[in-house]
Amino acid sequence: MSEVEMVKGWTKSGWRAKPRVQMPDYPDHAALASVEAGLSRMPPLVFAGEARRLKADLAKAARGEAFLLQGGDCAESFQEFSADNIRDTFKVMLQMAIVLTWGAKVPVIKVGRVAGQFAKPRSSATETIGGLELPSYRGDIVNGFDPTPAARIPDPYRMLQAYTQAAASLNLLRAFSSGGYADMHRVQSWIAHFADGPEAARYREVAMRISDAMDFMAAAGITSETAHELGRVDFYTSHEALLLEYEEALCRVDSTTGLPVAGSGHMIWIGDRTRQPDGAHVEFCRGVQNPIGLKCGPSTTPEDLKVLMARLNPENEPGRLTLIARFGAGKVGDHLPRLIRTVQAEGADVLWSCDPMHGNTIKSASGYKTRPFDSVLREVRDFFAVHKAEGTIPGGVHFEMTGRDVTECTGGVRAVSDEDLSSRYHTACDPRLNASQSLELAFLVAEELQDRRAMQKAAGL
Ligand code: PEP
Ligand code: CO
Repeated sequence: MSEVEMVKGWTKSGWRAKPRVQMPDYPDHAALASVEAGLSRMPPLVFAGEARRLKADLAKAARGEAFLLQGGDCAESFQEFSADNIRDTFKVMLQMAIVLTWGAKVPVIKVGRVAGQFAKPRSSATETIGGLELPSYRGDIVNGFDPTPAARIPDPYRMLQAYTQAAASLNLLRAFSSGGYADMHRVQSWIAHFADGPEAARYREVAMRISDAMDFMAAAGITSETAHELGRVDFYTSHEALLLEYEEALCRVDSTTGLPVAGSGHMIWIGDRTRQPDGAHVEFCRGVQNPIGLKCGPSTTPEDLKVLMARLNPENEPGRLTLIARFGAGKVGDHLPRLIRTVQAEGADVLWSCDPMHGNTIKSASGYKTRPFDSVLREVRDFFAVHKAEGTIPGGVHFEMTGRDVTECTGGVRAVSDEDLSSRYHTACDPRLNASQSLELAFLVAEELQDRRAMQKAAGL
């Protein structure tokens, strides 16, 4: 038996015998082997017990007893890496979680697209920049963003830099989560002093009321010292498990259960372009015990979904599988109902989450890849409406955002226009929501959840 125990005929390298897509061909095989060997000796970034705790939390979200908030960069980059950027993203996630908890009165599970979200699937193998046809940029863990043939050669040593950045990011996030920064008593300080606009004012109002409640509780003897939940948060990491050499090298055996675990992040997901039921990505993910996300797009058929659910969650374990719907505004009603019905017919226990980003990417008149914020909001509304009609549970959202004041998605209350896109367009891949748009999205989701709650109360549930 191999180093990682067999699970249902699974080994951590079994994916190598399956057809693979969206992965680089490394020209230097010796360098690749040496990087893989080096990574295999490194400590895992996350521990199996943490992944299991997240799974238990996600199981609650699937039952409607919690809500999943998953967000962060489209692609983390080596150049944009800084403590300030991580802090600002973390802060926006905390703000969004507060808005949702306040509105929906359920715990919010915070999962970052962070500390491993480096590899990108691309719709085309090449891209033309300035008249030059180049191999596509596939994320900093694979090749360089610079538009030169040399930068675009897949370089395995980039995996070591990605690992180091992930370890440093996670270290900081763990400190932010439990070192006092995330203490609920600081709720008013999480919003930037310069933030203006109605969504910021709304946040300050909620934060003030929470602070008031904190003061009342302190008077009654309940403080962060007596109730530790008030002084810290659980913050989990996630990424698309795209670069399988990296995933395999960080796969470990959990000493408690003897089962394999992906040590690269708490939750990993399978992208819309790599979910072939017999492909390499599904093969790798089926054997690790982490919670798994599966992107479902317009081309996902009920037949495929059935096979994928059986393969990825044969024991129908609650919290194991999150289906992330990403159809595009106006198309949710065409696709989601048939997939929901497939899940119901199979009696499958899944968490439904909504990614309102990846079906809504367009090219602006000025040539930028952008997403109209209205389409993002509309897809979220559509998602809730379909679940309401089907009598099923909308359990989470998945989005691309940054804590920085970028201009990448158009619209929002502080309207970013087509012409504004060029002023602060920093993403290494897809356009992200900025801090203000993220908060606006959180208020919309909170309203949807409040409506749901009111409806259930009225029905005596
Ligand atoms: C992503 O989440 O960054 C992504 C590429 O999504 P999808 O696989 O749904 O296109
Ligand atoms: Co993206």
